[in-house]
Amino acid sequence: MDTFKIRGGRPLIGSIPISGSKNAALPLMAGALLADGPVTIENTPLLQDIFTFNNVIRVTGARVEFEEEKRSLSIDPSGMYHFESPYDLVRKMRASFYMAGALIGASGYARVSLPGGCAWGPRPVNLHLEGLKAFGADIEMDKGYVVAKAPGGRLPGGVFDMNPSSVGATVNLILAAVKAKGTSVIRNAAREPDVVNLCENLNRLGARISGLGTAELIIEGTDSISGGTMYNTPDRIETGTFMIAAAMIPGSDLILEKTDTEDLGSFVDTFRKLGCGLELTKHSIRVTAPESLPPISIDTAIYPGFPTDLQAQWATMMTAANGTSIITDHIYPDRFSYIPELNRLGASITQKENLAIIQGATPLTGASVMSTDLRASVSLVIAGMAASGETDVLRVYHLDRGYEFLEEKLNKVGADIRRVQEAGS
Ligand code: UD1
Repeated sequence: MDTFKIRGGRPLIGSIPISGSKNAALPLMAGALLADGPVTIENTPLLQDIFTFNNVIRVTGARVEFEEEKRSLSIDPSGMYHFESPYDLVRKMRASFYMAGALIGASGYARVSLPGGCAWGPRPVNLHLEGLKAFGADIEMDKGYVVAKAPGGRLPGGVFDMNPSSVGATVNLILAAVKAKGTSVIRNAAREPDVVNLCENLNRLGARISGLGTAELIIEGTDSISGGTMYNTPDRIETGTFMIAAAMIPGSDLILEKTDTEDLGSFVDTFRKLGCGLELTKHSIRVTAPESLPPISIDTAIYPGFPTDLQAQWATMMTAANGTSIITDHIYPDRFSYIPELNRLGASITQKENLAIIQGATPLTGASVMSTDLRASVSLVIAGMAASGETDVLRVYHLDRGYEFLEEKLNKVGADIRRVQEAGS
């Protein structure tokens, strides 16, 4: 397992290209399994989660080839014969559960392991299963696996009211419904750009999905989806992460290129309150750090609200703000494992139920801290870059799941991050 050794206190100056989105690429990869011929997904990031999902897909007999230099991933589903996703792979990454929708959509049968728990509390799949049932699937549990069957090989379709709105369940139900016999409706569907991007790409290959970007998706079943090209979106969470890093580290002047500013939702409005220099075009953002940061409280919400995937980074930045701020996570109330780690660096944060209460400004001082999940890990990297002295962030394998070439990108704009192998690992 690798550790990052970070020498802090260096401003981020220069430009960083934003990579393709992990969370948008995974649904596209699952969607490719619905096609009659090969599908190429452009702008696929080189990330551990993508490699894991490639292996999940290979289990089915589909062919996967990744031209890594070009970030071009080709999936040929024509040889699929084994409609199963095993526990050993699904437990590594919850999004593997997209195979339930993809396999039943493609073949009328899916046997997919339940994903199990997660570092930040229970993450149920009840909505995925209730939705599949509403669309006509027979569902049984078998030794930790979900076995879903479409009567006669194709789902009839149906109506599902989703509560709460779930990104994962919306993706799974779209995948299941695209090649159904009849029409399906998802009410209170997720409106995240990742979902819209999936629908746009599937429609280009012959799907008939309407209501894109609204809370009601209507999916008319179609007999076939053709092979072709899908286009992945830039990673809005990576974009937001670097914006926060630039705002927190004094003297920073950072340009983020190849992003899509429209996908950031209300995050940009909240970010403006920090008083940074902020210049936006459709595909680029320039952030200059303010003289001092005001305390800005946030509440996470479904898109276009403040993303739960950026709350740990925001909390980290708020340790440098003059005053008290509160982070409330309504989506994942237990997602606060970073608090004790930030406190080891000198922060003053307390947790009360789904609130993190941050008393700033507290200067951070380097120490050893441990990564616990993807977004907590990147928050510790931001903290290490802002801290005085040297910070060791242990177990950075979480970062390799979701941030493409993180240390290379940050070092190019002035950070000092070294990756070393932990002794004995
Ligand atoms: C996705 C993202 C994750 C992000 C999250 C919220 C991927 C791979 N992951 O996760 O990074 O943090 O969206 O934006 O894209 N829920 C249920 N029952 C279900 C499913 C979800 O009650 O069957 C609840 C969850 O507990 C949570 C809420 O719905 O409170 C939203 O979760 P969901 O949108 O499903 O998150 P994921 O798709 O797992």
